[in-house]
Amino acid sequence: MTIDVFWRIPTHGEPSSHRARSPFRGDWFPGNDNRTLSGLSGGGDDGFTYIDYLAEIARAAEISGFQGGLIPSFPNTDEPWVISAFLARETKNFRFMIPFQPGFLNPVTAARMTASLQRATGGRALYNIITGGGGPSQLWWGDPVKHDDRYGRTTEFLDVLKGIWAGGPFSYNGQFYQVEDAGLPDPLSKEEYPEIYFSGSSDAALASASKHADYYLSWLEPFDLIKDKFARVKERTDQLGRKIKCSIRVDILARPTEEEAWREISRGFDNIPKDVLDRYKAQNAGDSVGASRQRGLRPQTINSYKDFILSPNIWTGFNLLRGGQTLGIVGSYENVAARLDELVQLGADAFILASTPHLEEAYRVGEEVLPLVRGKAGAGNLRAVA
Ligand SMILES: Cc1cc2nc3c(=O)[nH]c(=O)nc-3n(C[C@H](O)[C@H](O)[C@H](O)COP(=O)(O)O)c2cc1C
Repeated sequence: MTIDVFWRIPTHGEPSSHRARSPFRGDWFPGNDNRTLSGLSGGGDDGFTYIDYLAEIARAAEISGFQGGLIPSFPNTDEPWVISAFLARETKNFRFMIPFQPGFLNPVTAARMTASLQRATGGRALYNIITGGGGPSQLWWGDPVKHDDRYGRTTEFLDVLKGIWAGGPFSYNGQFYQVEDAGLPDPLSKEEYPEIYFSGSSDAALASASKHADYYLSWLEPFDLIKDKFARVKERTDQLGRKIKCSIRVDILARPTEEEAWREISRGFDNIPKDVLDRYKAQNAGDSVGASRQRGLRPQTINSYKDFILSPNIWTGFNLLRGGQTLGIVGSYENVAARLDELVQLGADAFILASTPHLEEAYRVGEEVLPLVRGKAGAGNLRAVA
């Protein structure tokens, strides 16, 4: 049985290492006066854009054996559907995992967009269905719907998407969507239905995932919690007579030796400005159960990077270095591969990995770590691109 491994495309600018905090790669941060802009020696514009940088990462990941990449969708990122369409022309087999909150798109429009993307790219699009974290960030998107209703809407959305994908005529009368005699036209209806990764830790999320997801997707959590969570998702899905696989999104920092890896973390930690640490202590998890679970793993007192070591090779300070998720894996190439293998034993069938900077680290992780991951039944079971 194969393990699918994806990379991540940083559509929000990024620094050149965990030590540097200015995300000067790309043009995302106007006002960052210290950044070095690309250009011709005479001062002219060389035409190298941020999209070109993302394309380099996608190609590096493709060459290094990753199946594709997750293209995140937050208020501080570019828009993943649009970025996917650009990157499709820059890669051959790279698959685009597009996260989106179903409530923000009409399901018929989403079906048409996805089928067109499948047709244009040879079926390289897949979804990460997300349902939002509530609070002010949900209102940033203009969405006042409450937590469990958002998941109800997600379920209905996927009911409709699936219904019309078959060609129709399909009618649906739900709380959020009403559709009459809809269906994708030929040749769009012949395109491959997108594989669905599904994020969310609440009961409402699990109910929706068990009905529609191919892969349940979790941030990394302590290994015993991940094991329980995967078991719960599988049990619920079994009850519906379906099968589901499980996957983990995790940041890693891998170096030739464990000492070098921790030294890099230590230097990055020493560069965290005080106001970032203060804000971190006050952060709010909105109504997201998953985010609260991550918040619960923070240390009570913070004096050094060591306060964030949860268990061998597991560090809970990643969101201080780069934003995003809390837990990540730190260690030698062998350490990181061993932890990934442990997660495979606990039920992971796929990973979405990331490390800063995403370009160089795609090569490093692809060349040094992935070959050491043995997968479910020994070496050679990672599903690389063609
Ligand atoms: C692996 C993973 C990736 C996520 N990616 C995004 C994202 O790109 N954009 C976003 O707004 N939320 C993202 N989320 C957050 C989800 O939208 C959602 O807020 C969260 O899972 C809360 O659901 P819960 O209460 O069921 O845990 C992600 C969550 C997970 C677990």
